[in-house]
Amino acid sequence: MTEKITFPQDFLWGTATSSYQIEGAWDEDGKGESIWDRFSHTPGRISDQSTGDVTCDHYHRWQQDLDLMQDLGLQAYRFSIAWPRILPDGRGRVNQAGLDFYDRLVDGLLARGVTPFVTLYHWDLPQALQDEGGWPVRNAAEAFVGYADVVSARLGDRVKHWITHNEPWVAAFLGYGMGIHAPGIQDFQQAVAASHHLLLSHGWAVPVIRGNSEGANVGITLDLTDVAPASPSPQDYAAAREMDGFLNRWFLDPIFGRRYPADVIEWFGRVHNARMDFIQDGDMEVIAAPLDFLGVNYYTRTVARGASSDNLPPTVSTDDSEFTEMGWEVAPRSLFRLLNRLHFDYQPRNIYITENGAAFPDKVCKEGHVHDDRRLAYIKAHLKAAHDAIECGAPLRGYFVWSFMDNFEWSFGYTKRFGIVYVDFETQQRIVKESGKWYSKVIAQNGFED
Ligand code: FCB
Repeated sequence: MTEKITFPQDFLWGTATSSYQIEGAWDEDGKGESIWDRFSHTPGRISDQSTGDVTCDHYHRWQQDLDLMQDLGLQAYRFSIAWPRILPDGRGRVNQAGLDFYDRLVDGLLARGVTPFVTLYHWDLPQALQDEGGWPVRNAAEAFVGYADVVSARLGDRVKHWITHNEPWVAAFLGYGMGIHAPGIQDFQQAVAASHHLLLSHGWAVPVIRGNSEGANVGITLDLTDVAPASPSPQDYAAAREMDGFLNRWFLDPIFGRRYPADVIEWFGRVHNARMDFIQDGDMEVIAAPLDFLGVNYYTRTVARGASSDNLPPTVSTDDSEFTEMGWEVAPRSLFRLLNRLHFDYQPRNIYITENGAAFPDKVCKEGHVHDDRRLAYIKAHLKAAHDAIECGAPLRGYFVWSFMDNFEWSFGYTKRFGIVYVDFETQQRIVKESGKWYSKVIAQNGFED
C-alpha cells in the first residue's frame, strides 16, 4: 500500500555546494591562495592527483547552473564564500571583484526565486593566515570576524540565512589532527586548539552578522552522527560514549551553553596529552551566543567498539547493511534518532539538514541518462526518517541534498560523485540524474508517495 508523505507547508527544499569544490578559477580576479589550493597542489595529497583549479568551473558557468536550479524548482541553495576571494591576505585589503561575484550570485538566485543560504567558512582558509599558524592560533579567529563583517555588510540586505562554519570537527581534526585535509598537519594539540578557535570565531561573528543583516537567521553547521555500541558490553558502551563525546558533544555542548564536556577533556588529556590552555576568560560565553538554527550534516551512523571486546556479541553493523562508495553505512533510522536526540537534549529553535546525500558510481547510459537508483533510495529513506522526526516534534525546517552537482570531493578528488546533477569534467556538460528528477517532483508536491 502506498502512503503519501507530506511535509509541513513552509518546509524548505534545497541543495548544497561549497566554493572550493565547485568554483574553479582558483587564481582569477585577484583571489588569494587558500590552504586547499596549496594542499591539492602538493603531490600525493589527493587520491587521483587532481586539484580544484577548474572543477565544475562554476565561477564562469554560474548563470547556467542557477538556471538549472530554477528548472528543478529548488527553493533554497546553500553555497559557501571563498574567504581568499574577498580578502586575499586573510585580512585587510578587500578584493572588490571577489565580492562582486557573490553579489551577482545572490541577485541571480533571488531573481530565480531561490533563497540563498550562505556558509562563510567551508574550509578554504587563506594560505596567508595558515602561514601565521592557522586555526590553532587565536589571531585566525579575529581575522574571521573581520571577514564575516565585510561579507555580511555587502550581502546582508539580501541574504537572511547565514552559516558561520561548516563542520568544525572536520576542519580541526582532519586538517590539523589526522592531516588528511588541508593544511595536512598531524598534531592533536593543534587540532583541539583549532576546534576552540573555530568555535570562538563563530561566537564573535554572530552579533556582527546580525548587526549587518537585519532580521538575519544565524546558525552553524555541524557534522553529527548517531553512535551505537557494537554490542551491549560495558567496554563497547564506554567506547560509544567516548565517540559521542568526541564527534557530537565536543561541539554541541559549548554551543548550547554547557561548556566543553568534562569527560572529553579528560579523554583528550589521557589519550592525547592535550592541554586546554588556549581557553581564555569569557570565551565560553561568546561561544554560547544564541542561534536561530542548528545546521546538521548527516551521512552515516558510527558503531563503536571497545578495545577489549573481541569475544563479545557481533557488531550491530550486520552483513546485510548497505554501504555507499565512501564506505559509509546507509543508516536512515539513525537520522531519526539524531534529530530526536537534538530536540530533546539541546532544544535548538530550528534545525535544517544542511547536507545529506550519497556517493555511488554513476554511469551515463546510451540514451544519455544517469540511473542512480541507489542515491534516489538513499535520499528517500532519509527524507522519511526526517519526516518521522518532525512528527515527533523535531523543529526541522528544511533539507539540503549534498550535492547540487558532482564536484571535487576533497582528498578523494573526482573519484566520488555526490551530485543529483552529473558533471562531465571533460566537457563541463551537466546531466540531471534520475535522483534529481525525482527530487524535483518531491519539491513540487512537498512530499512523495512511499
Ligand atoms: C561533508 C562536507 C562536504 C562534502 C560531503 C560529502 O563532510 O561538508 O563538503 O564533502 O561531506
